[in-house]
Amino acid sequence: MPPKEPVLVTCGLPYANGKCHIGHLRTYVPADIFVRALRKQGQNPVFVCGSDTHGTPIVVNAEEEKVTPKELVSKYHNHFEQVFKSMGINFSFYGNTDSPTSHARTTSIVEALIANGYVYPKTIRLAYCPKDKRFLPDRFVEGICPYCGASARGDECDQGCGKHLEPGEIKSAKCRICGTTAEYREQEHFFFRLSAFAGFLVDYLETLKGTPNAINYAKEWAKDLRDWCITRNLEWGVRFPGHDDLVVYVWVDAPIGYISFTEEWAAWQGEDWEKYWRRDSRIVHFIGGDIIYHHCIFWPAMLQGAGYTLPSDVVASGMLKIEDKKFSKSRGYVVWVDEDYLAKGFHPDLLRYYLASYTSHTKDLNFSWKVFQEKVNNELVAVLGNFIHRTVHFAHANFGGIPERTGGGIDGEVIDAITRAKAEVTSSFDEYEFKRLTDAVLALAAWGNTYFQSKEPWQLIKKDREQCAAVLRNCLQISGAIAILLEPVLPSKMEEAWGMLGQDGSVHDALFDDAVKEIKSRALEKPSVLFAKIEDSKIAEAEALLSSRVKAAESKANKASMIAPEDLARLDLRVGTVIKAEPIKGSDKLLRLEVDIGEAVPRQVVAGIAKTHASSALPGTQVVLVANMKPAKLFGVESRGMVLAADENGAVLLNPQTPVKNGTKIK
Ligand code: 2FM
Ligand code: ZN
Repeated sequence: MPPKEPVLVTCGLPYANGKCHIGHLRTYVPADIFVRALRKQGQNPVFVCGSDTHGTPIVVNAEEEKVTPKELVSKYHNHFEQVFKSMGINFSFYGNTDSPTSHARTTSIVEALIANGYVYPKTIRLAYCPKDKRFLPDRFVEGICPYCGASARGDECDQGCGKHLEPGEIKSAKCRICGTTAEYREQEHFFFRLSAFAGFLVDYLETLKGTPNAINYAKEWAKDLRDWCITRNLEWGVRFPGHDDLVVYVWVDAPIGYISFTEEWAAWQGEDWEKYWRRDSRIVHFIGGDIIYHHCIFWPAMLQGAGYTLPSDVVASGMLKIEDKKFSKSRGYVVWVDEDYLAKGFHPDLLRYYLASYTSHTKDLNFSWKVFQEKVNNELVAVLGNFIHRTVHFAHANFGGIPERTGGGIDGEVIDAITRAKAEVTSSFDEYEFKRLTDAVLALAAWGNTYFQSKEPWQLIKKDREQCAAVLRNCLQISGAIAILLEPVLPSKMEEAWGMLGQDGSVHDALFDDAVKEIKSRALEKPSVLFAKIEDSKIAEAEALLSSRVKAAESKANKASMIAPEDLARLDLRVGTVIKAEPIKGSDKLLRLEVDIGEAVPRQVVAGIAKTHASSALPGTQVVLVANMKPAKLFGVESRGMVLAADENGAVLLNPQTPVKNGTKIK
């Protein structure tokens, strides 16, 4: 079956509120590889992305940097555009969601959803800061997740269960800017009737392609859909039609950017955007694993509700770790693409190679400077670069170039080896498995090295020059094939190799099929080194920078968390005995405890210890309780205190060395 055209490939939009780090590239590099591979199969995909410019991620950071949202967005938009270019990520169009086209498209889609009956008003209770005198949308509020009890921000349980939180859902809310305890006030907001799309989504997800992680999670979520509040109390954003005090939620206008950027690209190129978004097409979204819900549930429902073409593939990447630690900007586990990598003189293609070849696209990827060095030195330098260099060098030194064909063409076994690699490369794209692609080409280079070694051209040249020329032609054919097959991953290095092989045109324009076309005879220059070994000192320098950043973050956190003796005195810590313990329905982490702390009625407490403590084993155990915690409701159960536990791969309860009277104070 011929591939479906036209093809549009998009990447999740980066928030224009901070610098580009390696975590971002986990999505953008594979997407760029995919687009280049489609071109190598004779297709003509359009590749769009742009800055996500609205919402509280922007407004909060702008307030912190003391600039306007517009200024913040413009600074980081330029930064991302620059870094993407340097990394060889070539978008057909890189826009921003604050453009007039984006505003207009969002307004038109929201109006269509309203007209089609998918939006309704509802009065809800929202966190409000009495000191700053304003409502606290999304990231302006911090508190406790109502589902798992972890610390969370207003729109997402980012440190616990990962659930999306609707406005007003967060418990024990505090204003993120001034720390004041929030009040809850009523206001009318507008909701998207996601629940009306339940049947549609079940059918749609059966047809959706992409990576299994995206589709499987989405199928689970589609079973339980809640309507989404799509308005926010903010100045910055796209106005909600007819309500000057409200803007639409950023997760409405962000994906609409995919459409508006296609429109802007089409206007620029004299093309028709409706071919992609109003008629049959193939739309492929590359995203991070944390925004599957938005792309597989919320976004298709919006498109369906407003009458647009639905995405055909959602490709979700695994997460990124830095030196085996969870990626965290605040804890210093971050590698900035510009200042830590490019500015230190590392070639962009080496990082592209690491990201593609480390592991399967859907698995977690660990970035380690040592592994980076090993992969470059052992794979790119010792296998790939060595093979191309030795063949070009030998041909140049002994024949002045690629020798003329004398007898037959390229050996059958060589064509077979290239054909095998090519088949593996093309099928790995179809499955979004980029590691298989790099493995296949590395295997071809290793095969070439063995072939070169076994034919001993350095002996052959003395005995049979013609035979030696045939061996060299075979080796150079493999080198050319490697350049073509690996161009999507290492575009700049493979263009360099193509130049060394003296071939016509650009390797960017060569098709995968050209890998088996017989290489042309050419005079060659003395080859330069394609990949240089990375020295230990360079890696030590990069590691030192990372560890100094981690240390600085630790000491900042320690300073910020120093407390005065009077702060401690505010805590009412008491010893009590658990008299009853039972699971809480719907939660696999929480238990409901009744703790006797010497009061007339035992205290009811919700504790996140179910994973490590069987409820039946707890009665009779003494625990330490924070007795003056503000009451909070978790899973509908009121908690009036908190039991203390050490956090070692799960909770380990604290208790006195010898039993004490219930209610004894801890000082
Ligand atoms: O999570 C994020 O970083 C968002 N800026 C992604 C938006 S993707 C799309 F929907 F626009
Ligand atoms: Zn949670």
